[in-house]
Amino acid sequence: MDILDVDDLTTDELVTVLDRAAAIKADHGEGSTSDLLDQQTLGMIFEKPSTRTRVSFETGMTQLGGHAVFLGPDDIHLGHGEPVKDTARALGRYVDFIMARVFDHADAEELAEYADVPVINGLTDDAHPCQTLADLLTIREQFCDFEDVSVAWVGDGNNVCQSFVIGAAMVGLDLTVATPEGYGISDDVADRAAGFGNEPETTHDPEAAVAGADVVYSDVWVSMGQEDKRDQKLADFEGFQITPDLLGDRPFMHCLPAHRGEEVTDAAIESENAVVWNQAENRLHAQKGLLVWLSEQA
Ligand code: CP
Ligand code: NVA
Repeated sequence: MDILDVDDLTTDELVTVLDRAAAIKADHGEGSTSDLLDQQTLGMIFEKPSTRTRVSFETGMTQLGGHAVFLGPDDIHLGHGEPVKDTARALGRYVDFIMARVFDHADAEELAEYADVPVINGLTDDAHPCQTLADLLTIREQFCDFEDVSVAWVGDGNNVCQSFVIGAAMVGLDLTVATPEGYGISDDVADRAAGFGNEPETTHDPEAAVAGADVVYSDVWVSMGQEDKRDQKLADFEGFQITPDLLGDRPFMHCLPAHRGEEVTDAAIESENAVVWNQAENRLHAQKGLLVWLSEQA
């Protein structure tokens, strides 16, 4: 089974993974380790940089009694010295899981098609399901439940937003997505969310989105790989910055890394409202829950 986006899980499976993550977190004392993934290895493919994804997966494997192998863009032949499918088939003969952070979502799909072990998406240009697992864990901790919780997404409607839209639809969060024109979620993601009976509202007005929200969530305007679009995007996203005024007393979420002075002011992210460090920590617990759950599947 592969996790290329959150809806590779059913809603019941998603909740089971979150429950598993919460239980693992509750047991996570100082120096706490287990042997749930004893002798198992995670291969971690990175075409883009990472702080949280790399360290949380690697640390998580260690804490579960296993091991992770970091495979950066200059370490392996992925896509330049050999076809993606060849890397997939070879790695699948060595490791028990593959985590892949690649630009093109089709490359993650090709890895999943050809590897004989579970492939977990660690961020593509289209999706970031592991982030959504941590986000949902964080929201559930904050509000005890998903029912009657409304979230305003303010910013770009790309990878992190798209997986969050689907995850929110699966658990019944009320979501409004505010993006500049031309930066909304794809029709495919809207359709998949609608399939769970819970398509988000969309708007180009950040203040209207935030007005009825319990939580505000943002992401960078210039994603990895979009550096050449920087000037255009900074101009297009004017008015979408999260400030203390816009935020009010609502919790503030951000997948990180944050670009202070762009999508969020320093004052907003440093305020007591920010739950971004809980989110970052929950990457560790959510992914441990996912890895353990995957290891138990046939
Ligand atoms: N949120 C997230 O995926 O962070 P990294 O890019 O540091 O892994
Ligand atoms: N949208 C951002 C998320 C980083 C975790 C990017 O793709 O760079």
